[in-house]
Amino acid sequence: MTGRWVIYGATGYTGQLLASRSLARGLSPLLAGRDGARLRRLAEPLGFEHRAARLDDPAALARLLRGARLVLNAAGPFAGTAGPLVAACLATGAHYLDVTGEPAVFAALRRRSGLARQRGVMLLPGVGFVVVATDCLAAHVARRLPGAVRLRLGVSLPASYAGRGSLRTAARHLSPGVRVRHGGRLAVPPFPLEHDFDYGWGRRTGLAVDWADVVTAYYTTGIPDIEVYLDLQPAERAALLAGRLFAGWLRSPPGQALLRAKARTMPEGPPPADRRRAGCAVVAEGEDHDGRRARARLHTPDQYTFTAAAALSLVERVLAGELAAGFQTPARVYGADFVLGLDGVTREDLAG
Ligand SMILES: NC(=O)c1ccc[n+]([C@@H]2O[C@H](COP(=O)([O-])OP(=O)(O)OC[C@H]3O[C@@H](n4cnc5c(N)ncnc54)[C@H](OP(=O)(O)O)[C@@H]3O)[C@@H](O)[C@H]2O)c1
Repeated sequence: MTGRWVIYGATGYTGQLLASRSLARGLSPLLAGRDGARLRRLAEPLGFEHRAARLDDPAALARLLRGARLVLNAAGPFAGTAGPLVAACLATGAHYLDVTGEPAVFAALRRRSGLARQRGVMLLPGVGFVVVATDCLAAHVARRLPGAVRLRLGVSLPASYAGRGSLRTAARHLSPGVRVRHGGRLAVPPFPLEHDFDYGWGRRTGLAVDWADVVTAYYTTGIPDIEVYLDLQPAERAALLAGRLFAGWLRSPPGQALLRAKARTMPEGPPPADRRRAGCAVVAEGEDHDGRRARARLHTPDQYTFTAAAALSLVERVLAGELAAGFQTPARVYGADFVLGLDGVTREDLAG
């Protein structure tokens, strides 16, 4: 496998994990970001090249990506970082991958699909836990029930586990309502939706959330009605509902300052021992016009371990020339069973 490739945002929690796991897999990324000193401290012990390039400097980004096969963007919130990197990819012909989970970023990249196809560039956002796990399970259920018209996805993550980068990202996208897909269009139901899922440790009631699959699973499966639910502890649920109630104020400058201050008090991410103990579950339920159902469940390692494994496995596939130009979703290009090739992932079909 040859070709220069770049991890942008390598100094973050996820970026560092991607860098160290790259070494373990025999991959040699160039580590990039905006802070040259931090990049040097990270890259030198790993024996990787490194280079600083700011996102507000298109010429520096073009120099960074010229001759590169792909960039894997780990710099979030991606609403602020995907645009300049995608522009540099379209200018240089490098493929674009990222670990975003932000629905608006998927929608924005999808709008650039035509130009990307013309330039032979693949835009593949969401190569982490979000959306690889849900996208592959959605594709599996759609394959089992080809006439499905409704898809419900349930996601159970380790409690109080996400790091400060994820809080900063969530803070950028606070909204009073939750988007679902209804009749192929995005819609905001007037009240909170709930649904029960069996994650293998008893049934749990999930709350509908704004999640990227309302964009990506529609693109992958064509199912017109899609909802995504999160399994929440009581305190997390209360915080989420309060965040929706006060979304207007929290989006204002003082609200954003408060959330940034809160993020600074959080750990950058879980320590490795916690990662080894934790795991995630995803359930997908499809239903057709006649009420026939197909259900399946996925168990995975924790979302950061999964993200590193999925992202680097997809990097290897792209470097090997397996790709499709334009905006893509992981399961559309690499299939519903891609996820089964990742360590610690199991899938089971459930009785309807
Ligand atoms: N898809 C998934 O399942 C999944 C899994 C894990 C994480 N994520 C997402 O990945 C993102 C990163 O998470 P994290 O925990 O690694 O966060 P983090 O530790 O805060 O790291 C963020 C990284 O982004 C860089 N960055 C942010 N804004 C930038 C800008 N304008 N220009 C250049 N660099 C910029 C930071 O650079 P500095 O060091 O210079 O500040 C840092 O390297 C978050 O959005 C998170 O939600 C998604």
